[in-house]
Amino acid sequence: MRVGVVGLGMGLHLATWCARLGIDVAVVCDRDPAALARAAEALPRARRVSDWRDLLEEGLDGVVLANDFDAHAPLAIAFLEHGVHVLSETAACADAAEGRRLVEAAERSSATYSLAENYVLHPHVRLIREALPEIGRITHIEADYLHSMSPEGIGGLIADPDHWRGRIASTAYCTHSLSPILALTGARPVQVTAFSADTSTPRQASVMAVRLSTGALALTRNGFLSGEPDSHWSWVSVRGERGLAESVRAQGDRAWSVRVRTEGWTHADGGVREEERVPRP
Ligand SMILES: NC(=O)c1ccc[n+]([C@@H]2O[C@H](COP(=O)([O-])OP(=O)(O)OC[C@H]3O[C@@H](n4cnc5c(N)ncnc54)[C@H](O)[C@@H]3O)[C@@H](O)[C@H]2O)c1
Repeated sequence: MRVGVVGLGMGLHLATWCARLGIDVAVVCDRDPAALARAAEALPRARRVSDWRDLLEEGLDGVVLANDFDAHAPLAIAFLEHGVHVLSETAACADAAEGRRLVEAAERSSATYSLAENYVLHPHVRLIREALPEIGRITHIEADYLHSMSPEGIGGLIADPDHWRGRIASTAYCTHSLSPILALTGARPVQVTAFSADTSTPRQASVMAVRLSTGALALTRNGFLSGEPDSHWSWVSVRGERGLAESVRAQGDRAWSVRVRTEGWTHADGGVREEERVPRP
């Protein structure tokens, strides 16, 4: 399989892993010469180009899009129209109209469109999924994608209006919180209300309330809020009709563990069951 990779920040990481898995990374693309130079060291055999359009006629099987967060759709549509499979890392589109065009292009194309969302496969999310039969129908579910950082650290990431992190709204990077919710419930969002967490720093963090097609209510927190331990940035909590399964807010590897509680009334002996489960290695 021959692939190309566009955008060589996170994209270089993905390109390197493609190569390790035996996928032929034939072309890498970035408009920044420094990023291309780093790629030359990591993947010396790949052709390096600065314009993604050069990849369209390369006869590639697939392309990994890891360019600016809010600019994937036009590239995805162009590659799909050329019969090239697309893996988009992480966002799909910037608004509903672009989303419709992308869906139409994917339906017309002989190639497939995939949205990469790694947070649905994190160890704590897998453990919670395994516990779902015990806790019963989901009534309420929460997920956080949060970073605790100094004001200087946050400014370093989101203060530059010329970088995608500096121009997207605080609600935009909700993929890593909402995707585990949709994966665990099998639901679709039907109604969304979103707020910035603090109007004095509106770009830093958001809170979203999402009505799901199953009837349950989801809450997500996204962005930069203080107080998070070293928790892999992801915390998920699921309340079912019979109990609860939620990841432990803790430092280090314990943050992958999950507390599962089933209420006493659900057991013949009336006793509550509560334990902390550790993911398999
Ligand atoms: N799933 C995850 O855990 C995860 C983690 C980090 C980033 N990401 C995703 O990866 C994507 C990139 O994020 P990043 O942190 O690497 O950003 P980044 O800004 O560090 O890197 C993006 C790179 O793409 C290049 N680029 C942008 N537009 C281009 C274009 N039209 N043509 C050629 N090159 C172009 C830029 O020059 C830059 O080198 C985003 O969509 C982000 O959401 C996902």
